[in-house]
Amino acid sequence: MKPVLQCPVCGLPLHADAQGCRCENRHSFDRSRYGYVNLLQKQRKKLRGDDAEMIRARRDFLEGGAYLPLLRCIADAVQSASPRMIADIGCGEGWYSCSLLRELPGETGLAGIDISPAALRYAAKRAEQCGLASRTEWAAASVSRLPFASESCDLLLNLFAPCEAGEFARVLREDGLLVRAIPLERHLWELKQAIYREPYENRPVLSAPAQFTLLDVQRITYRFTVSGQQMQNLFAMTPYAHKTAPEDAKRLPVTETMEVQAAFGVLICRKQPRGNSM
Ligand SMILES: C[S@@+](CC[C@H](N)C(=O)[O-])C[C@H]1O[C@@H](n2cnc3c(N)ncnc32)[C@H](O)[C@@H]1O
Ligand SMILES: [Zn+2]
Repeated sequence: MKPVLQCPVCGLPLHADAQGCRCENRHSFDRSRYGYVNLLQKQRKKLRGDDAEMIRARRDFLEGGAYLPLLRCIADAVQSASPRMIADIGCGEGWYSCSLLRELPGETGLAGIDISPAALRYAAKRAEQCGLASRTEWAAASVSRLPFASESCDLLLNLFAPCEAGEFARVLREDGLLVRAIPLERHLWELKQAIYREPYENRPVLSAPAQFTLLDVQRITYRFTVSGQQMQNLFAMTPYAHKTAPEDAKRLPVTETMEVQAAFGVLICRKQPRGNSM
């Protein structure tokens, strides 16, 4: 089932075709030649999200399989919920979205939302290559204004991306699930140690966002090895790439093999019934 997007101007459903999509009030939005539609309003166009180099690096790194244990954990949670309509908020280049959708029955659809045009290009192409184009829709839109009707989604994925609890609660159906992934304290610790004189630990928030109840938290920790180009990709796909001075980045030991710890938190949250403020 192809997801139906909502007009960001008037809120009516958008009818999609190869050229773009359009509501009954004749608001229309172009589809890029890469396959995603641009629903960002003018004032939001300055939001760019991750740049092309970060996205390429993430695609190449994820395809190497180092985060498959995390994918497995998320897939188990998604499969047991049997969702018909999934939205991946901050979907990036679509590795998680497409890998998860492939394992679900054909009637399940997925909409991937991101503000990065580069990310959506890769995601739409990936869906095409995986034979998932008829079950997916990819849209440039912000997490703070999701292009979905109220209570139209069964499950939201929000993996290493900004969280807007109020908007998530609006678009999820009653009892709908939110699956979040966040980095734990010492995620990629050895990589940080190699670059920074004083590496800092992440400060994960392992509680449910407002309007959600925490059903489960999984801690996934393991070690993997990286070297050469994959080490560069790992560095380039993280926020450190932008925050690190060039002289620090040179300390990356790309000629060696490094053992790095992966430490993820996966939070499974359920939307609270209306009127429940607990
Ligand atoms: C760290 S990446 C994670 C991507 C993907 N979920 C993954 O795990 O591979 C964060 C993503 O959130 C997107 N993003 C950042 N701010 C956003 C916003 N306000 N609305 C929608 N997406 C946003 C970025 O462009 C980027 O693709
Ligand atoms: Zn409209």
